[in-house]
This record gives sequence, structure tokens and C-alpha cells, in this order.
Amino acid sequence: RFERAVADAPDARALDEVRVAFLGRSGEVTGVRRSIGTLPPPERPGAGKVINAAVESMEAQLTDALARVERAALERSLGDTIDVTFPGPPARLGALHPVRQVAIDVARYFTRHGFAVVLGPEIETDANNFDALNIPPDHPAREGLDSFYLRPDRLLRTHTSPMQVRSMRRHGPPIAIIVPGKAYRRDAVDARHLYMFHQVEGLMVGHGVHFGHLKGVLVGMCRELFGADADVRFRPSFFPFTEPSAEIDVKCPACHGTGMQDGLQCRTCGGSGWIEIGGSGMVHPNVLRSVGYDPDAVSGWAFGCGLERIAMKRYDIDDIRAFVENVPGFAEGLA
Ligand code: PHE
Repeated sequence: RFERAVADAPDARALDEVRVAFLGRSGEVTGVRRSIGTLPPPERPGAGKVINAAVESMEAQLTDALARVERAALERSLGDTIDVTFPGPPARLGALHPVRQVAIDVARYFTRHGFAVVLGPEIETDANNFDALNIPPDHPAREGLDSFYLRPDRLLRTHTSPMQVRSMRRHGPPIAIIVPGKAYRRDAVDARHLYMFHQVEGLMVGHGVHFGHLKGVLVGMCRELFGADADVRFRPSFFPFTEPSAEIDVKCPACHGTGMQDGLQCRTCGGSGWIEIGGSGMVHPNVLRSVGYDPDAVSGWAFGCGLERIAMKRYDIDDIRAFVENVPGFAEGLA
């Protein structure tokens, strides 16, 4: 009867009732134990032993049964409300901003080739931003319209090129550096312009440095950024601080240089088949002279690339404002 009662008890409370009914102070087994006194004396010890063994076994069965009903109760409660094995929502880890990702990749390429990464101030003298770079006082870039002046002789740098001047003044040749950083221009904001953007400057000066080095290094950089089959083109151009000068173009990834996409003019490159990512050239002798270098003894090249430009091409972003709009998930969506 005891064993059936234990098996039928649905929960801990019912089990306790079984325990009281059999083993409690006025329970059945207790009653049997009290009746030992009515037995002939020689039989009493034997009867006591049998009862003790029975009580021990009953207590063990109650302990097991209690563990069983408790486990069953726990399982029922989990099943009713929470499935603890159900996968949770994926953790949002965030991602690097695409401009920073490009800067990191460019820096990795150049440090591998022995270049140092240096940073410079965003507030510059106009001597460093213009004069030392062979930009004459009447050059349109110097007009207040194009630059943010803080004082008559202090402005937010309009490019990273003043770091060419600072670096060469500080160190003698040879020199091999890149300079990632912000630049500022008073441009109206639209799909292709921000008044603050990022560039990476490159500068290599030494004995016998020539344009072939520049081309090799930049083609290597573009292959690293855009894939081993990236096509690069150098288009003759003009900068006051380089001579000769060249614009750096990369073949448009969207139309592969055809200028057409789905029968329409390619949106990514505007139909030219190429995307301009920056300017470059051989450092002008006047710039070398302005920092105390001898143009007859050393030569050098420099380049400046727009990081937003590179990121737009790489991640297929068609509006430069996306970089500063801070839309949640923007960077994660690109990774
Ligand atoms: N400073 C130039 C610009 O901002 C780019 C450049 C850098 C060109 C170095 C030649 C050499 O457009």
C-alpha cells in the first residue's frame, strides 16, 4: 500500500501526506511499532529489526520520489513559459566606419612597404597649407571662399599636403610616410561633397626616387583595396606642388570601364568608366627648396587620395552624405 501511495503522489505535498500517514507520530508503522509490547518477549527483538528495516526502505523511497516529482515540476514550468534552449537575438557588435576601414587597409599596405604612418594638425598656417607648397598668394584655392580661416594666418587645412612640408622640415631625406586625416573645404554639401572629408597623403623622397616608383606603389595600393585585377590609370593633370602631375583613376567596378550599366549611363562613374581617387606627381623643386632640401640631390613623389572616394567605390555608396548621417546599421550593413 505504501509503495502504491508513493507512486500515485503527484507532488511534494502529496508525498509528505504519505509520509505522515505511514511514518508520522500517529502513522500506521508507528502503531505497529507500539504493538511490539503485546508480543511474547523472545519475539520482540526480531519484530523490532523487521520494522526498522521497513522504515529505512520507506524513507529511501520517499527521498527518491521527492527528487522525481521536483524534477518533473521544474520541467513542466520551463515548458510552460520559457524555452531556455531557444536561440536569442543575435548580438549587435557594430563595425568599423568604412572610412576608417579604408584608412586601416591603406596604412597596412604602406607599413608593409616600409612607410611610417604620421598624423598632423587640422589647424594649419597658410604658410604650410599654401606658400611652402608653391601655391602663390593669388591662387584661387587661397580665397576665403574655399577655406575655413580661423584667423588671417590660421585655417583648417584644405588637404593633408602641408604634412609633406612639416615632415620634410623635421627629418632629412630619405623619407617615406603616409598621412591619413581630415581636410576641410568650404564646399556646399551635396551627394559628392562634404565640407569635412578624409585624405591619405603619401610622400617618398630620396636619392633617385622617380615616377615609376609612384606608379608601382599606387597600382599596388589599388590592387590591395579593390582586388588583384583592379585597373589603374594615370591621367596628366596639374598641381602647383608637383611636376609632372597625374590624377589617379581606377576602373569603375560597377561597369568595368564600359560606362554603361543595364543599358543606362553608369551611376557609379557617371559614364566615364573610371573613378578618380586622388592626385599625385613628382614633388616640385620649389617645394623641396622651401624645406631646405636640394632638388639636385634628391627627388620625390607625393600623392593624396580621398578616403570617402575610395570607400564609395569599394562599398558601392552613391551619396557621400551617408558617411556622416549616423544611420544605425550603416557600417554593419557594409561589412
Ligand atoms: N593635395 C591634393 C588635393 O587635395 C592632392 C595631391 C597630393 C596631389 C599630393 C599631388 C600630390 O587635391
